[in-house]
Amino acid sequence: MAQKLDPWKSTEISDYSKLFEEFGIQPFAEVLDALPDPHKYMKRGIVFGHRGYEMIADAIKNKKPFVILDGFMPTGKAHFGHKMVMDQIVWYQKQGGIVVVGMADCEAHAVRGLSWEECRQIGVEEYITSLIALGLQPENTRIYFQSECQPVKDLAFELGTKVNFSEMAAIYGFSGETHLAHMVSVLTQGADILHSQLPEFEGPIPVVVPVGADQDPHIRLTRDIASKMNMFLIERREDQKTGSKYWSVRGKNAPEGALKEIEKLLRDGFGGAGVQTKLSKEHIDIFGNISEAELTELVKNAELAHGGYAFVIPASTYHRFMSGLTGGKMSSSIPDSNIALSEDPKSAAKKIMKAKTGGRESAEEQRELGGEFDKCSVYELYLFHLTDDDNELIQVQKDCTSGNILCGECKKKAADKMEAFLTDLQQKREEAFDKLPLFGIDYVRK
Ligand code: TRP
Ligand code: SF4
Repeated sequence: MAQKLDPWKSTEISDYSKLFEEFGIQPFAEVLDALPDPHKYMKRGIVFGHRGYEMIADAIKNKKPFVILDGFMPTGKAHFGHKMVMDQIVWYQKQGGIVVVGMADCEAHAVRGLSWEECRQIGVEEYITSLIALGLQPENTRIYFQSECQPVKDLAFELGTKVNFSEMAAIYGFSGETHLAHMVSVLTQGADILHSQLPEFEGPIPVVVPVGADQDPHIRLTRDIASKMNMFLIERREDQKTGSKYWSVRGKNAPEGALKEIEKLLRDGFGGAGVQTKLSKEHIDIFGNISEAELTELVKNAELAHGGYAFVIPASTYHRFMSGLTGGKMSSSIPDSNIALSEDPKSAAKKIMKAKTGGRESAEEQRELGGEFDKCSVYELYLFHLTDDDNELIQVQKDCTSGNILCGECKKKAADKMEAFLTDLQQKREEAFDKLPLFGIDYVRK
């Protein structure tokens, strides 16, 4: 049976490669080489998929502006799963991205029933301080709470003009019992993703949203709504007879006369360069030498002049999840299965010493056969979090498969690393409270 991705139930995904055929997610490997200095999650295949990433790779490489946007639902402790998103945000900032981070308190309130005060406290004390501790800089950064961001709420309402109940029900399994605020929170997430492109923020700009695969339904819906909101659609067409290629601009939502204006702009600007146009009722066909970038720019400006949005369809990346330290899924209802970023370093080390490994029944057997790191949650900690050095990672693999090192020793090393990492992070999280005003966050600690 085809699997369904549910953003609120954290379904376990057994086979990530299926997501390519079933949902049309593209393999990240295809765009990896276009990046000058990819993040370790990308090189290690943890970020495995994308939609529309080419424009982001292009922006990074050619130092063009782009936005990195993410949202966190402030419902509980920030853990190492959230750290994966946070690390990527910090990395994109270093690559020149403008950082926009939303605290999804509307979603937490609507879906998980947390009070606004709880959302605020968890949002700041767990998520925002962790992000700052992991290296987020205040320059070119905007952090907001959904409930306090009027443009997001207004845009969410507007996006609601393009989706009906049947579509929502088909995507999310909503029924007559689903609370309306839950449905609104879906639109709010769409607005999170799109609002940076409003004229009062950056205007139309490439946006990338790194998420876990469970969030893909939101991404697909938002990409779909964005194109429905736009007035014009640019398409590459091919002449049936001659096989020659040309551009076509469709005015699917455009006001009277707007297409005609675009045609005039094309003639005035590119007629001299031999570009020819043919206007029909709903589209203009364009022949001759005009680049995609030139055409896009012209159409964008015309759309903005007519009060349209001219959204650039947002891009996304998808990462795999770590499994829980106790085996199976990482879950906040099983405390030993995960480690919080605010956790006491000693307690985290203990969890690692108890973790499920890919070790054998007995020491003799392990010396003989070696361990199975690909079934080991401790190895996953190395892979995701404990080392940036690929050689060190390979050494862990070798020591494991050769049986040179047994799990006890291997776990001890990981536990020591974790303890050192968290000791440092706790210090930085403390310091982050003093930096909150630099990020425009007004907060009094209780
Ligand atoms: N729904 C996301 C979660 O459960 C949080 C979120 C809200 C989000 N708005 C977003 C994620 C925008 C990415 C982009 O974690
Ligand atoms: Fe895991 Fe290390 Fe044991 Fe190998 S030796 S199974 S990597 S804990």
